[in-house]
Amino acid sequence: MARVEYLECTRCAEHYPGDRPQTVCPKDGGILYARYDLPAVKKNFSRNSLKDGPADMWRYAEVLPDAQPVTLGEGFTPMLPSRETPNVYIKDEGRNPTGSFKARGLAAAVTMARHYGLKKLAIPSAGNAASALAAYAAAAGIEAYIFMPRDVPLANRLECESYGACVNLIDGLISDCARIVAERKEREQWFDVSTLKEPYRLEGKKTMGYEVAEQLGWQVPDAIIYPTGGGVGLIGMWKAFDEMQQLGWIGPERPQMVAVQAAGCAPIPRAWDAGAASSEMWPNATTLAAGLRVPKAYGDYLILEILRTSGGVAVSVTDDEIMGALQHWARVEGIFAAPEGAASLAAYRKLQESGFLGSDDRVVLFNTGTALKYLDVIDAYDKKSAPVKLPPARAIGGIIGPY
Ligand SMILES: Cc1ncc(COP(=O)(O)O)c(C=O)c1O
Ligand SMILES: [Zn+2]
Repeated sequence: MARVEYLECTRCAEHYPGDRPQTVCPKDGGILYARYDLPAVKKNFSRNSLKDGPADMWRYAEVLPDAQPVTLGEGFTPMLPSRETPNVYIKDEGRNPTGSFKARGLAAAVTMARHYGLKKLAIPSAGNAASALAAYAAAAGIEAYIFMPRDVPLANRLECESYGACVNLIDGLISDCARIVAERKEREQWFDVSTLKEPYRLEGKKTMGYEVAEQLGWQVPDAIIYPTGGGVGLIGMWKAFDEMQQLGWIGPERPQMVAVQAAGCAPIPRAWDAGAASSEMWPNATTLAAGLRVPKAYGDYLILEILRTSGGVAVSVTDDEIMGALQHWARVEGIFAAPEGAASLAAYRKLQESGFLGSDDRVVLFNTGTALKYLDVIDAYDKKSAPVKLPPARAIGGIIGPY
């Protein structure tokens, strides 16, 4: 594993030591990136050395902080070639512990929290990050204090309770939850593991970038479509590509990074269209893709910069498009994707129609979670929407019927 040489502010480039818990840059609130001695890592860690590594995200331990992992087997999820669309791959993060990619970030954050001897962790969450924190905190013997909107999918609440976390349901959005954690954390002696307000969730999520490159034979795709709430995965993957280039594993080529959000909460596409460097708080955020209901991302300045540098784009899709895509993937690919993940397919279709992506483009669509965590959401949507139009009946194994 790699010793964190220092933490670097993404705004003012100031360095901070990695040998104690850190939050954000005390000068300007900038997000901190963990930096390693990559030239030293390069000497002992090659693409080839990965072939004997574990089939989880700790196969990249040489570029993760030096601490005993708290692991439930997260990462190294399948990269499934689409059955429908040549050149499209679905990175199925629904296969992670707790059913979403949030497992990666919280595995890393809880690993470091235990390493530093922290005892109480607090999180504002749209739902899945809460479940992941609760699970990893249980595994580490650390207390978890969860703040999430009252209307989170049922699974998130039940999971957190089962893992023994202290669950607080808030009448509001993740931004209200974040405010409450910020107000109470000092008095309660909680360490705040909010998205991008500590440096290691990003380190866990960056392993998705390593996996994309490794699973595509060390070639980065032409584009990556990523359902963006706080944007940690998008930012993390971009960091991973830079690290891999320094390690000599890839060249200077980069995928076009695409951020997809829901039409009912689309601060990043709005800022993108306005050519702005940061986003405005989105009023009255609503979408049934709970993880995308983030009215203002703390890392908006990094997301927008990455979209710009990569020649990417931000797009929004409606809840109906998301639910249509969810059904479509289930029927055509056999993948039961979380609404957030299905947003990737809806965005892909839009970008194909607009000509932004061509059929020759190799594109990775992130399915960030499993729909099994959204059964109540899907059921409620199905009940209030018109009966689904099924394709014509066809014979399956001698049984005639709709499929
Ligand atoms: C399933 C799912 N997809 C996507 C997101 C957005 O993730 P990020 O905050 O990394 O942008 C979330 C966040 O809660 C989520 O739960
Ligand atoms: Zn700074």
